[in-house]
Amino acid sequence: MRSAANVPLLLLLLAAVMATSAYAMNVTYDSRALLIDGRRRLLVSGSIHYPRSTPDMWPELFARAKANGIDVIQTYLFWNTNVPTPGEFVMSDRFDYVRFVQLAQEAGLYVNFRIGPFVCAEWTYGGLPAWLRQIPDIMFRDYDQPWLQVAGEYITKTVQILKDNRLLAGQGGPIILLQIENEYGGTESRYAGGPQYVEWCGQLAANLTDAAQWIMCSQPDAPANIIATCNAFYCDDFVPHPGQPSMWTENWPGWFQKWGDPTPHRPAQDVAYAVTRYYIKGGSYMNYYMYHGGTNFERTAGGPFITTNYDYDASLDEYGMPNEPKYSHLGSMHAVLHDNEAIMMAVPAPKPISLGTNLEAHIYNSSVGCVAFLSNNNNKTDVEVQFNGRTYELPAWSVSVLHGCVTAIYNTAVCRAHQRAPHDAACCARESRRVCDRLPPLRPKARAPCQSGRIRHLCLVVLTSIGPQAPATKYWNKTPLEQIDQTLDHTDYLWYSTSYVSSSATYAQLSLPQITDVAYVYVNGKFVTVSWSGNVSATVSLVAGPNTIDILSLTMGLDNGGDILSEYNCGLLGGVYLGSVNLTENGWWHQTGVVGERNAIFLPENLKKVAWTTPAVLNTGLTWYKSSFDVPRDSQAPLALDLTGMGKGYVWVNGHNLGRYWPTILATNWPCDVCDYRGTYDAPHCKQGCNMPSQTHYHVPREWLQAENNVLVLLEEMGGNPSKIALVEREEYVSCGVVGEDYPADDLAVVLGCGTHQTIAGVDFASYGTPMGSCRSYQQGSCHASNSTEIVLSLCHGKQACSIPVSAAMFGNPCPDVTNKRLAVQVACA
Ligand SMILES: *[C@@H]1O[C@H](CO)[C@@H](O)[C@H](O)[C@H]1NC(C)=O
Ligand SMILES: *[C@@H]1O[C@H](CO)[C@@H](O)[C@H](O)[C@H]1NC(C)=O
Ligand SMILES: *[C@@H]1O[C@H](CO)[C@@H](O)[C@H](O)[C@H]1NC(C)=O
Ligand SMILES: *[C@@H]1O[C@H](CO)[C@@H](O)[C@H](O)[C@H]1NC(C)=O
Ligand SMILES: *[C@@H]1O[C@H](CO)[C@@H](O)[C@H](O)[C@H]1NC(C)=O
Ligand SMILES: *[C@@H]1O[C@H](CO)[C@@H](O)[C@H](O)[C@H]1NC(C)=O
Ligand SMILES: *[C@@H]1O[C@H](CO)[C@@H](O)[C@H](O)[C@H]1NC(C)=O
Repeated sequence: MRSAANVPLLLLLLAAVMATSAYAMNVTYDSRALLIDGRRRLLVSGSIHYPRSTPDMWPELFARAKANGIDVIQTYLFWNTNVPTPGEFVMSDRFDYVRFVQLAQEAGLYVNFRIGPFVCAEWTYGGLPAWLRQIPDIMFRDYDQPWLQVAGEYITKTVQILKDNRLLAGQGGPIILLQIENEYGGTESRYAGGPQYVEWCGQLAANLTDAAQWIMCSQPDAPANIIATCNAFYCDDFVPHPGQPSMWTENWPGWFQKWGDPTPHRPAQDVAYAVTRYYIKGGSYMNYYMYHGGTNFERTAGGPFITTNYDYDASLDEYGMPNEPKYSHLGSMHAVLHDNEAIMMAVPAPKPISLGTNLEAHIYNSSVGCVAFLSNNNNKTDVEVQFNGRTYELPAWSVSVLHGCVTAIYNTAVCRAHQRAPHDAACCARESRRVCDRLPPLRPKARAPCQSGRIRHLCLVVLTSIGPQAPATKYWNKTPLEQIDQTLDHTDYLWYSTSYVSSSATYAQLSLPQITDVAYVYVNGKFVTVSWSGNVSATVSLVAGPNTIDILSLTMGLDNGGDILSEYNCGLLGGVYLGSVNLTENGWWHQTGVVGERNAIFLPENLKKVAWTTPAVLNTGLTWYKSSFDVPRDSQAPLALDLTGMGKGYVWVNGHNLGRYWPTILATNWPCDVCDYRGTYDAPHCKQGCNMPSQTHYHVPREWLQAENNVLVLLEEMGGNPSKIALVEREEYVSCGVVGEDYPADDLAVVLGCGTHQTIAGVDFASYGTPMGSCRSYQQGSCHASNSTEIVLSLCHGKQACSIPVSAAMFGNPCPDVTNKRLAVQVACA
């Protein structure tokens, strides 16, 4: 993009630019790719959202991304957390996106900055501030004057912040791409002025800056100055607009999780297949949504009913640690693609050559060099194909990369150690490729609660019970009011209370035909029932005379999807009935928030303002608990709270809100089918953890902890037994590999590697002979060389990576009658 600076300013700038080694980049495009300073680029991108991790984690996340072959970090901007009330810009700590972008640049990464204003993102209200609802007659995301006014001001101010901090590529910053709006195409027809709004977005973008390229995703009618991009599990059939390159802004390596759902999983082989197919068919930019999903801290989860964990089965897990084999297997693919970038970008995508049914070759051959890709698009059949006089094995649903158009160096379905990428070692072995699931989820290692010396105090719980008591301030309305207009999404909780005079002591059927999202019903101060299935129907006991009915209504993250969000409502939407009596116009008191929340008793400085008592009984309904704990000194591993035993609520550590917890809700939606990577993937496939709690572990960033006396506070809605709470550690990273003597001669070594700042600390398993099982569950077979562990230790201990030859010369020949012996190794990284 052009530099607008005049000459004296340019000299000044040049000095500044030299000092920070940032230089103005020229970002343009042609029909093949983005051009950065005139050079066509094959870019691999990964989404990391700044508020879903802590600033201390950012440099490590960026370093791991960079080491894994990521070129671009993509983030959304979250209007409602950065501007919680009109005019109030919060730019500190996790919300400091300027710092986030600067750190990405320091790590040598470009940035794709997706402004929105709507972002979806499984973020409450899709990032829209609930205070927008107070603007009279506003229609969000439409060609509607009040919306254009407020959204236009926000986008303009945001671009000004980026410019003031010189973050745009044309200014020497890392932001090469800016996105306006988000996946509007699919919902556009529901808005009266949809097409005019899209035009307006294009004009606003053009007016604001050309120091980065603007994009719109899933927007078939994107204006001409904006690149229209694809979001899907597969985008190899995406048709870009004339003159524009093919760009893929969201490739989902997994999916988000809802309370009550099992854990999503997309096999690494299918992701590698989708990505490779995309680039060989003309793709130029692909982004993993997510690359590091992270955590929905506080009340940021979208919804309703999205979990606190936003792992997404991404390459980096919730804790920022490599999710193997995905991280390594995709990392190897990135290395192969980058090695061939110049060859692939020199020419348009070649027409495929058919090699048989669902078999094809894409050959990139020019003066720059030659690379060929052989695809087997059959979803069941492995084949051997002939190509240029040679035979190649192609597993079903896979692509092989032929270096120099001859040597197969990578296959998307075979994750194993190979020469190109030593880090591939943690990948699944060739033998298990068919159902190459991820390694058992990197579960935090449980530590017993109240373990002496380690986690003191965690079982010494004191509590105070704050039930449905008379709130300090209430307001009255004849009918129950809509909830979001009352809370403005500053709390989940709204009390609705009414009184009903019964002529006699009796039983009656209380029904609320439509509630959003959760309702706890209390009659005469006693808990009656809870429902999150959309309605309530319960038999209640009434006394003669006045009876109080208190309903605690909860939102569980506001809708973040494609609905008309200005018309999205929550609360007791369907009225309230007691038998045949319509209580809807009975007169209702309203109270936002619960008492302890309004008084912020979760803040360490406010703890003493409450009279905490030791409980006589547990499981008594709406309750606050507090405790304190020390952090184990012997490790730096990421930490989580295991909240098994608790019901549902919120948890704070040292005043930081870790988010909603709900370890009791079992994953029952969708079956956990056998996971086969072959064939078209979609989100219901390959789920894991059926009939288990959706989420028991809750990430506690180290940044929020001190060595001793960390204050733990829980707001428990249902009861729960806090004595089972444990502080747990994420397991160390392990690296595994299996290689058999029948492998190609140049592959006859197990190559192991740890993370960027890790070394091999121990050998968990090593066996040369006939080992069985897969990573984390290897077992010795009948044939085993007794010095296997010793040999691996001597070659690997203390190193970041190592290679162990698979040969009888090395291990002796423990059982001469067994041919094709294997070496299986698992090492622990620290
Ligand atoms: C930017 O790159 C384009 C295409 O490569 C070129 O035409 C243009 O002159 C360049 N602009 C600047 C300011 O270097
Ligand atoms: C863009 O700028 C032009 C010219 O100043 C102006 O007429 C138009 O209203 C602007 N459009 C938007 C959406 O800001
Ligand atoms: C690549 O092009 C060269 C020169 O035209 C040709 O000799 C060679 O056979 C081609 N390779 C493939 C794999 O098509
Ligand atoms: C409550 O919702 C369930 C599931 O949607 C439905 O089967 C049931 O009939 C509803 N009950 C009432 C009282 O509306
Ligand atoms: C109950 O009262 C409300 C509010 O007046 C009304 O909208 C609703 O239709 C009534 N329900 C029935 C079943 O009559
Ligand atoms: C496998 O391929 C067959 C034939 O092309 C197709 O009908 C089927 O839907 C595919 N299955 C999957 C899971 O992609
Ligand atoms: C391992 O043991 C075998 C059999 O005792 C022996 O032949 C071999 O040299 C040993 N390897 C090493 C590296 O000590």
